[in-house]
Formats: sequence, C-alpha cells, structure tokens
Amino acid sequence: MSERKAKDTVDFSVEGGVAWVKFNRPEKRNAQSPSLNRRMLEVLDELEFRDDVGVLVLSGEGAAWTAGMDLKEYFRESAANGLAGVRKSQREAYTWWRRLRWYQKPTIAMVNGWCFGGAYGPLFACDLAFCADDAQFGLSEINWGILPGGGATKVVTSLMGFRDAMYHAMLGENLSGPQAAAAGLVNESVPAASLKKRVDEVCERLLKKNPVALKATKDSVRRVVEMTYENAEDYLIRAQEAADSFDPEGRTEGMKQFLDDKSYKPGLGAYDLSKQKPKKRA
Ligand code: ACO
Repeated sequence: MSERKAKDTVDFSVEGGVAWVKFNRPEKRNAQSPSLNRRMLEVLDELEFRDDVGVLVLSGEGAAWTAGMDLKEYFRESAANGLAGVRKSQREAYTWWRRLRWYQKPTIAMVNGWCFGGAYGPLFACDLAFCADDAQFGLSEINWGILPGGGATKVVTSLMGFRDAMYHAMLGENLSGPQAAAAGLVNESVPAASLKKRVDEVCERLLKKNPVALKATKDSVRRVVEMTYENAEDYLIRAQEAADSFDPEGRTEGMKQFLDDKSYKPGLGAYDLSKQKPKKRA
C-alpha cells in the first residue's frame, strides 16, 4: 500500500462515554514511528477534557497492539540526523507516554496482539490493562542488541518480581497473555473473542464512579509507590482535600444516598452520580 498519512496512524472514535483510540499502522504491526508519536499526542490532547469522554481505551488495529518502536523510522532514520534527531524522537515518544500516565480520565490498555519493547511505555501508562490470551509480550531489545530503554526496564521492575523481570529482560522470550497476567503485566487475560466485552464491562463500571475521585485515586496509586509511609499518608490527605475543592458535593451526596436515602450500599457499588448537584465530570 502507499505510505500511510501521519493523521491516519492513530484512529479514534467516541461512543457511550468511551474514547476508543487505536494504534493504526497494521501493515507495520503498529510500530511507533515519529509521525505516529506526534499524532498520538494530538489525539490525547483532543480527547482529554471532552465532556463526552469518561474513559480512554488504547488498542491496536490488526494483529498487533504495538510491536514497539519503529526500527527504521524511530531508530535508524532518527540516528541519521545525529544526536538532535535521536533526542527529538525520544522526546516525542516519551511525551505522549508521560501524558498518558497522568491522563485526566481513567485509561485502559486493551492488548489485542503483539506487544514488544517500546510498547511497555504506553502499557504501563494505562491505568488498567486487559489482553487477549493469544497476545505476546516481549522485551525483544536484547534480541537485536540493545538494552530495554525508554522506561521499559523500569516498567518490568515496577510490575514484575525481580527474578521474573531479570529473566524477561535478559532472555528476550515472549510471554503469552495468561503468562503476562500471572507476571503482573496486565490485570487479566481473556480469550480474544471476549476481550472487547470484558473491557466494555470495566468501562461501564468506571463511568459510574465519581470522576474527580477517580483521577485523585489513580494519581495517588502512582505517586505513593515511591513515598515513605509517612509521606504517603500526608500526600493522600492533601490529595483528598484538593479533590474536595474540585468537587465539594461528591462525598456529601455519597454519604446522603447511603445514610439518609438508603438507596445504595458503598460496599456493593457506586452512588447515583446523576443525582449529584452540581454535576461534575472533570
Ligand atoms: N519496526 C519497524 N518495522 C516493523 C516493526 C518494528 N518494530 N515491527 C514490524 N515491522 C514491519 C516489518 O518490517 C514488516 O514490514 P515490511 O512489510 O515493509 O517488510 C511489517 O511490519 C510486517 O512485519 P512482519 O515481520 O512481516 O510481521 P509478522 O506478523 O511476521 O511478525 C512480529 C510480527 C513478530 C511483531 C515481527 O514483525 C517483529 O519481530 N517485529 C519487531 C518487534 C520488535 O522487536 N520491536 C522492537 C522492540 S524494542 C523497542 O521497541 C525499543
């Protein structure tokens, strides 16, 4: 096929409160090229604060989620432009991954297929991850002679046990979906035919939660990992107080519906957001 236009390297649509974003270079197994990286940042920008977006799902068109960085366009051609070229391409990739790590809306990686190397940046950036049983996960860097950079080594040491991370990085062998779930790379692995349905269910549940509390929660989980207990305790007090100032009605309504209206039980599900005034969707 003729060269894909930069704008078409990422596909997206919004349906029922969910932004479905796709790596869209199936003919190159969705490898992350500089133009894809630039386009992805534009798409994330466009979707982040839209009122009709409550959750963002990142998946891949065709057989791959993403086969990592594009060896030709990201590595070889960037290097041809010297250090400035290399740093520019790194910045473009890392910028959208970082943006996704701290995204305003909850994010889900829906890993439908190949997931290699540079895929681990966006994989970790997504708050939750679900994969197809026949997806394949690998740090293939060692197989072509480099270390797992771009945060990939940090990702595996964050998500896996030390021995598993070391083996995964040094051997360059792939994990199947169920193995990736057992290792902690994803929340769950399900048969490919059920993947979208499972992600739909999770989206539906997330859409019922208070969005301000969700943003505060996901940021807190990421932040406290590197804090002492004392610092985490303090951070969480401040984070809740900041969330309260964005959404002064949230917890009051949650308590009212349980204690006064007796219309739900927090131990069994979320309060009815539609009754909250003023309605906020941050
Ligand atoms: N970079 C550049 N091109 C790629 C990449 C990539 N990461 N992955 C696939 N492609 C290209 C192939 O070169 C091929 O292009 P062509 O049609 O112009 O020859 C096309 O995509 C299809 O790839 P095939 O290898 O033919 O597809 P197949 O389904 O047989 O294999 C697989 C899929 C296993 C994903 C294989 O393409 C592969 O090993 N890709 C590289 C994976 C990898 O190691 N990625 C880098 C990780 S390290 C990092 O990201 C820092």
